[in-house]
Amino acid sequence: MAYRWKNDLKECDVTPEAAYISRRQLMAGAVAGMGLAGLGQRAQAEALEPNSWEDITSYNNYYEFGTGKDDPAYYAHTLKTMPWTVKIDGLVDKPGDYAFEDIMARMTVEERLYRFRCVEAWSMVVPWNGFELSDLLQLAGVQPGAKYIAMETANRPDEMPGVKYRTLDWPYVEGLRMDEAMHPLTIMATGIYGKDIPNQNGAPLRLVVPWKYGFKSIKSVVRITAVDSEPPTSWNKANAREYGFYSNVNPEVSHPRWSQATERKIGGGLFAARMPTLKFNGYGDEVAGMYAGMDLRKNF
Ligand code: MTE
Repeated sequence: MAYRWKNDLKECDVTPEAAYISRRQLMAGAVAGMGLAGLGQRAQAEALEPNSWEDITSYNNYYEFGTGKDDPAYYAHTLKTMPWTVKIDGLVDKPGDYAFEDIMARMTVEERLYRFRCVEAWSMVVPWNGFELSDLLQLAGVQPGAKYIAMETANRPDEMPGVKYRTLDWPYVEGLRMDEAMHPLTIMATGIYGKDIPNQNGAPLRLVVPWKYGFKSIKSVVRITAVDSEPPTSWNKANAREYGFYSNVNPEVSHPRWSQATERKIGGGLFAARMPTLKFNGYGDEVAGMYAGMDLRKNF
C-alpha cells in the first residue's frame, strides 16, 4: 500500500507541506488562542507537530471501503465527489438540496490544527481546513424545536465496495446534540494541509468534532437533518454496550475491551511511548461546560 501512495504523492507537492508546518509553528500563538492554552506542555508541543500527509491519508477508517487501515486509500478513488449535494432537511426554515459549490461559496474556510483520537486508542494531529458547522446550520435556519442534528454518509454500492458487507447497517449515520453541533470547535472539514480532502478522509466534506472519539466524525456527508430527539448512530446500533451517543474522549471510562487511559500516536514508530489521553481530548476548557451535571460514565 505504501508503494501505491508514493504514486499519489507525485501529484502533491511535498514542499508546501514542509512550508506549511513551519508556518504553523509561527502560528503557535494562534493555536493557543484556539483553546489549547493552559493544556500543559505536552499538548502544546504536540499541537505543533501535525502528522504527515502520508500518515493522515494512508491510515484510515472508512468501512464503506473495507475494514483494513489501508483499504480506504486504495479503494476510495472510486467515490464520485463531483457533483455533490447535501440535503438539509427536518426542522429548518430552508430545507433543500444544497450543492457543494454553493455551500463553499457561502462558508468561511479556516485552518484548524486538531488532535484526533480514535476509540481504538490511536491518535493523530491533523491540520484540517473547514468551516464551522454552525454557519451552515444558520444558513438553513434551524428552528427552535430542533434539539439534535443527524447526519448521513453516501451509500453507493457501485462506488463503495465495502457496503456489500454488512459490517455496519448502511448508510453510516451519526448525530450531535444541538449545542455540540453549534459549538465553534465543530467543523465540516473540506481539506487537509490546504489541499482538497482526499476521498479516504471523507471527501468532499466530513464532520470533525475534536473532543469526541473519531467515529463521531462522519465522512462524505450527504444529508443533515435537524430533529427533535436523539438520532440513531451507526456504532451505537452495532454495539450499544461499547459505543454510546456522546463518545466524548475520556481516559477515565474504559472501553469494555480496552483501556482509554493512553494512546499511540500514529507515525511515532512501533516502540514510541504511549501518551496519556486527555479528557475531552484536551478541549475541556471549551466543552466540559456542555456536560455539567451529567454522569459521563452513564453518558459515555
Ligand atoms: N465515516 C464513515 N462514513 N464511515 C466510517 O467507517 N469511520 C470513523 C470516522 N468516520 C467512518 C467514518 C472512524 S472509526 C474514524 S476513527 C474516523 O472516521 C477516521 O477518520 P480518518 O480516516 O480521516 O482518520
